[in-house]
Amino acid sequence: LVHTGPNPALSSVIRKKLMGFVGFSNLPNQVHRKSVRKGFQFTAMVVGESGLGKSTLINTLFNTTLYSPKEHIPPDAERSSTVAIESIGADIEENGVRLHLTVVDTPGFGDFVNNDESWKPIVENIESRFDSYLEQENRVNRAKVVDNRVHACLYFIQPTGHSLKQIDIEFMRRLHTKVNLIPIIAKSDTMTDEEIVEFKERILNDIAHHNIHIFQAPTYENEDEETIAEAAEIASKIPFAVVGSNQLVDTPDGRQVRGRAYPWGVVEVDNEDHCDFVKLRQMLVRTYMEELREYTNDVLYENWRTEKLISMGVAQDSSVFKEINPAARMQEERTLHEAKLAKMEAEMKMVFQQKVQEKEAKLKQSEEELYARHKEMKDALEKQRADLEAKKSRIEQGRPLTPEKASVRVLFR
Ligand code: GTP
Repeated sequence: LVHTGPNPALSSVIRKKLMGFVGFSNLPNQVHRKSVRKGFQFTAMVVGESGLGKSTLINTLFNTTLYSPKEHIPPDAERSSTVAIESIGADIEENGVRLHLTVVDTPGFGDFVNNDESWKPIVENIESRFDSYLEQENRVNRAKVVDNRVHACLYFIQPTGHSLKQIDIEFMRRLHTKVNLIPIIAKSDTMTDEEIVEFKERILNDIAHHNIHIFQAPTYENEDEETIAEAAEIASKIPFAVVGSNQLVDTPDGRQVRGRAYPWGVVEVDNEDHCDFVKLRQMLVRTYMEELREYTNDVLYENWRTEKLISMGVAQDSSVFKEINPAARMQEERTLHEAKLAKMEAEMKMVFQQKVQEKEAKLKQSEEELYARHKEMKDALEKQRADLEAKKSRIEQGRPLTPEKASVRVLFR
């Protein structure tokens, strides 16, 4: 039971036992029913050089043909000279739950001679999606806000076995504060298990060295051990070494699986011993899709929004009021200006006082020095006089009398 008085800070919570069933324990079911009715929206972005298997992996993740097989583009064909942004949307349904999935592709990324600014159109696209959301939020009627923000970005790393390339680092550095980054080692069936382990280690070192934040499965207080273990296991697989394929192939033991058949055997997509596809799907779809959406809204978008509004001159507190009330805004600006002036005045006063103190201390010091010199000279003179005095009396006592003085003495006798 919560008592809230006039001051909410003084409210207290008293635990009470219910005398019977009330029914609010049904709230999660109400939320469940409502969200199922409304459906879900999820936007994933795929970034990586051409031919790394992006379309194949998206088809594999959602078990559908979102991307049909692409036509081969001859090398001398005219290509766009910049990174393009293309979106594909699809409504998919599973056990009555509808998902509006949007996949944002970035063809051309890393495909040019100079890829220095490949990240730029992608950042601009992500920010324009934030802009559009902010604009909808600020509308008078906010009944239908469409969320086009990118909730996750799958970044495909070429399976080179070396370290990350400059383009990879630059991209992640520019985007990690704007989107949930999920790094993926593409076509991992082209590497041995040992090579993958070493490559992952190098990638993680590079990521840590450049302070890049990649999305981690979150764990909360009081969570059960199973969930914590699951999150840790997913985290241990990052960057996910994946294999994509929607083709059904026959295994030597007679099973039909999604995979890639090679003369030496079959690589199974859904087999955790063969690749990290299952863990990636868990992170992106099965367990943490809602977390990805929430983190995008609560942290990434919120930070971006705050910065944007501040750069537009909107104060953080009661911003809406100030935004729509020019007088309040002017008043706030005046107060800020006055505070700035007062601060400057106080600083100047302080500097002045400091200077005066310094001057006074210097004067005092030279006065003391003068006084000491004067005393020294006086003492020396005094000593000189005393010496002379002593000399005089010594001379007077020991000297024979002059004839005049002798006659004076005779006279007195
Ligand atoms: P662009 O659309 O040109 O950017 O290419 P993409 O990154 O979408 O690659 P796509 O999915 O079209 O795959 C390119 C080629 O790689 C195809 O021949 C796929 O069959 C193959 N491929 C996709 N995934 C894998 C994989 O995991 N391993 C291997 N060995 N080949 C793959």
